[in-house]
Amino acid sequence: MAHRKPLTGKEVALHNSRESCWIIVHGNVYDVTDFLDGETGGSKIILKYAGKDATKEYEPIHPPDAITTNLKPEKHLGPVDPGTVEKIEEVITAEERARQVRIAARPHLSEILNLHDFEAIARTVLPEKAWAYYSSAADDEITIRENHCAFHRVWFRPRILRDVTKVDWSTTILGHKSSMPLYISATALGKLGHPDGELTLTRAAAKHGIIQMIPTLASCSFDEMVDAAAPGQVQFLQLYVNKDRGVTKRIVQHAEKRGIKGLFITVDAPQLGRREKDMRQKFEAEDPSEVKQAGQGGVDRSQGAARAISSFIDPGLNWSDMNFFKSITNMPLILKGVQCWEDALEAYDMGLAGVVLSNHGGRQLEFARSGIEVLVEVVDKLKEKRGLNFPNEKFQLFVDGGVRRATDVIKAVALGATAVGLGRPFIYAFSSHGQEGVERALQILHDEFEMNMRLLGARNIKEIVPEMVDASNIHLHTVSVPNDNLYDTNYERLQGARIREIRSKL
Ligand code: LAC
Repeated sequence: MAHRKPLTGKEVALHNSRESCWIIVHGNVYDVTDFLDGETGGSKIILKYAGKDATKEYEPIHPPDAITTNLKPEKHLGPVDPGTVEKIEEVITAEERARQVRIAARPHLSEILNLHDFEAIARTVLPEKAWAYYSSAADDEITIRENHCAFHRVWFRPRILRDVTKVDWSTTILGHKSSMPLYISATALGKLGHPDGELTLTRAAAKHGIIQMIPTLASCSFDEMVDAAAPGQVQFLQLYVNKDRGVTKRIVQHAEKRGIKGLFITVDAPQLGRREKDMRQKFEAEDPSEVKQAGQGGVDRSQGAARAISSFIDPGLNWSDMNFFKSITNMPLILKGVQCWEDALEAYDMGLAGVVLSNHGGRQLEFARSGIEVLVEVVDKLKEKRGLNFPNEKFQLFVDGGVRRATDVIKAVALGATAVGLGRPFIYAFSSHGQEGVERALQILHDEFEMNMRLLGARNIKEIVPEMVDASNIHLHTVSVPNDNLYDTNYERLQGARIREIRSKL
């Protein structure tokens, strides 16, 4: 676009309708009229900011390059003169003020002793919407609890009188060094929790020699996260497959060019699950008069943040697409979200590099089994059917969901996993204390590894063998009571519909 005088706030403000809709993001003006596609919730939000500065709303839920890559260059209208833009008055609610007080009263990092602590703090310091999105899970939130509880059904058989002066819990994941048998799993919308979003994870991962799995739906752009990596730092990419395979091909090939070392294709989310805690937020945030339009061809705000950001995901993804992926990249391909041995076997037979046994943090199919439980059957059946032993260099098994302690990781390693993914614990760590929070979380895990390996009598990862655990009860599905008192502070009681704030009519 030819160089021209900056626009004024007044000029922008004239374009505040469905017919002509301009918005300001980071000091630049964009004509987003073409993004208004009728009756979607997205259009409604854009229209709310028509003619105004939308940066604050835009920032947490879009990578900075989202507008520029998706909007034709002629719709980039150039900079706005900042002095002429009417400031949107920010109303600081009593609730927000109370939150700021709680932020100031956070415990010092040194007082944080385990990963649950970050979760408890995040719950009190995050804006309600952010907490709802991060912590929500499918339906009655049984599977999210089961993910954690399943680890309670695996017990140790430690060995004694081994010289454990030196213990080493480092390993390799897909051939790359990792200081622990775990990685930072992909989670969306990091800036809901911290202004630096996923970059806090990239930087903390570098300091601790941990691998970060970059999410498709991050708040930071892919390139920002790769640029923030230290020399030689290993990153993987989690992929949501777009209905338009051309877009997917571009993303994958760009990732490979930028040095990404593994492609984790999400296969458990052809449609995003029903997370009612997230959905309720949307109802409450908006004017009640809008809600009644839901389901009547009007604006349906009932789907929550998750669905608002995920409509591009292709429910048609299937096994034959694996040939497409093989044809466009040399990165190792791993399926994320495998939930039974039959699919793990299929992935192996297709020559993929591994699978993540996961139910998406309990956010997808309610009553999906935990990854640690599925691991046991996958290891058994792949030995029986293909003579494989685990951990296995050629076909690696990963587990995620419910992991909060190094003992959880050690159990998975003993049962045959190469490594374990942690998602929410790190989000809660940065929501609570930023990058330093993530570093502290990683340090806590290191300390837990050191002690527990000594107590278990395992001097290195190879010595963590199946005989060190008793998983004979793993398939015993006791009902995880929602009001589980042990974790009641973190796993919230289910909420019913809440009445709206009552405004007196004066
Ligand atoms: C979620 C998606 C976006 O679970 O991964 O919310």
